[in-house]
Amino acid sequence: MNPGQGLSLKPLHPLFAAEVFGLNLKQALDADTIRAIDAAMDEYAVLVFRNQPLTEAEQVACARQFGPLDAGLRKATGAATRFKHEELIDIGNLALDGAVADRENARLIGVLANQLWHADSTFQDVPVKYSMLSAVVVPAEGGQTQWADLRAAWDGLPEQTRGLLAGRTGRHSAFHSRIALGDDRYSEEQLRRFPPVERALVHVHPGSSRKVLYPSVHIDRVSGMTVPEGRLLVAELLEHATQPQFVYTHTWQAGDYVMWDNRSTLHRGKRYDLAARRDLRRTTTLERSVARASA
Ligand code: OGA
Ligand code: MN
Repeated sequence: MNPGQGLSLKPLHPLFAAEVFGLNLKQALDADTIRAIDAAMDEYAVLVFRNQPLTEAEQVACARQFGPLDAGLRKATGAATRFKHEELIDIGNLALDGAVADRENARLIGVLANQLWHADSTFQDVPVKYSMLSAVVVPAEGGQTQWADLRAAWDGLPEQTRGLLAGRTGRHSAFHSRIALGDDRYSEEQLRRFPPVERALVHVHPGSSRKVLYPSVHIDRVSGMTVPEGRLLVAELLEHATQPQFVYTHTWQAGDYVMWDNRSTLHRGKRYDLAARRDLRRTTTLERSVARASA
């Protein structure tokens, strides 16, 4: 099937990212539409759906159509949630009572690490696939989200650097980026719940068969290198992969629903005034169900 066949699409960037028209995500999607969205994801990696105000239950139901859902870092932190649905991951800056959180609020401080370039949950053994973010309230200024196309980043990588990466893995650690920011209040027990995971620095994207450069702020060391050498390499690869020509910036409107492939993109949030309300809710699918993964 052609990418996104049957979908009405408008590309948003020369390399990737498209807006999808004509669907109502409150309703169940038929199998052909799901297939068309999967095909469009393989091609565009980021899909934007505008005017999709979803309730908690609708957002969870919509996401489930694309695979089993992940619970995010709450598996380790066990933090309370303001949502009725456990599957929703809180990306906003609100406290449990729904008011804008204080700057010292532990969950808000944790969420600040989303302003560093990453793919979601690469630090857990069961790989994740899509993330889907629903904007309920957005600040008037700032708080955009950016995505970088890691297939294009690989295509643009100098030959000499490609050679250096062959066969190497990065060690993805759940709390590394948070600790690097100075958010280090995690217990040994929490750290133990997410043992680091080795992932290739270059992989082939299963849906598009394209090669992907895969750096991240979650990587704390690179195989066959000293820690500083590995961290410098990751910093260099991130700088390369996030050059403006590889980046799509999304300016949120309330009701936007954005879906991305964590296997072929990086993303980060942009700074915003933490006193301004930002209510964004995420769901993330696993590549396969956990039951099968551990069998
Ligand atoms: C996320 C994320 C960035 C943002 O939802 O996974 O990293 O702009 N979001 O909030
Ligand atoms: Mn994220």
